[in-house]
Amino acid sequence: MLIKKPASIPSSEITPQSVYLNRRKFLAGVSLAGAALATGRGLLEMVSPLTTVQAGAKLNAVLKSPFSTPEKQTPYNDVTHYNNFYEFGTSKEAPAERARNFKTSPWTLSIEGLVNKPRTYDLDAILKIAPLEERIYRHRCVEGWSIVVPWIGFPLNALLKQVEPLSKAKFVAFQSFYDPQQMPVARYAGIPFPYVEGLRMDEALHPLAILCVGMYGETLPNQDGAPIRLVVPWKYGFKSIKSVVKIRFVEQQPPTTWNLATPREYGFYSNVNPNVDHPRWSQAKERRLGEFFKRPTLMFNGYGDQVAQLYAGMDLRKNF
Ligand code: MTE
Repeated sequence: MLIKKPASIPSSEITPQSVYLNRRKFLAGVSLAGAALATGRGLLEMVSPLTTVQAGAKLNAVLKSPFSTPEKQTPYNDVTHYNNFYEFGTSKEAPAERARNFKTSPWTLSIEGLVNKPRTYDLDAILKIAPLEERIYRHRCVEGWSIVVPWIGFPLNALLKQVEPLSKAKFVAFQSFYDPQQMPVARYAGIPFPYVEGLRMDEALHPLAILCVGMYGETLPNQDGAPIRLVVPWKYGFKSIKSVVKIRFVEQQPPTTWNLATPREYGFYSNVNPNVDHPRWSQAKERRLGEFFKRPTLMFNGYGDQVAQLYAGMDLRKNF
């Protein structure tokens, strides 16, 4: 999706690798999870995992979901080292490297706009909104690669119900965290920040749309959108906004980052659609990370039985 390649990133802005700690060595979560097991209590009850624990801590008491695909999961290493997170650079490897020191605690998520009960949640409160579920979903990037990920989260509609949207609210607008101090390379990305996204109200209420706090049994790695991101499996990956700080209920269709950047290439809906080419490439096939041969891309990323009715009567060539 890159529009402009950063000409050069000053070496002064790249933290030397030697100063980074090995991710698995510094995880407070390992010992906390062990303690939780020893006492027979779930980690979720015992501590405020996301307010006190680093990315990569074990998440216990996670339910299995009937919405999961039985397909082979993409290896953890691929999902965490081939990312799009332009706040931390535009190459696929950059987010894993540059987001290591991203400060995700404390964190607040504010819900505002056309609601009866506007509210600001800390991560502790977010984890109490609904039971956590593992959702193994296909995830198709508009660039032509795909992954299968065991996300952990809860339906977005559980949060929406808590704040009671007014009937005037027709869309939901999402905003990512943005701090040029922590994200100095963002200014070379060629897209505006903070990253923003949006869904129509009925899309946001659909049970497949989740707010995600973890993957592969653990809290989210920073490069995958810690501490909380959206996952909308029937849409191209760029709709799944990372590191969300604000959700606003609005009457008009909200702006979205990639549509602002290149409206000819990226629309508001961005449903996975093998029949509508990107202006610069076909969307008919995809390459699953770790596999050699391409496979056909499925309409709505294979979730058509569940979501096609949301778009009945719409021209999906116009509403791409
Ligand atoms: N969210 C933010 N805040 N910034 C981004 O650059 N990239 C999007 C989306 N969410 C992006 C973002 C794109 S283009 C994709 S394909 C997915 O995140 C990638 O998610 P992944 O790296 O976990 O696979």
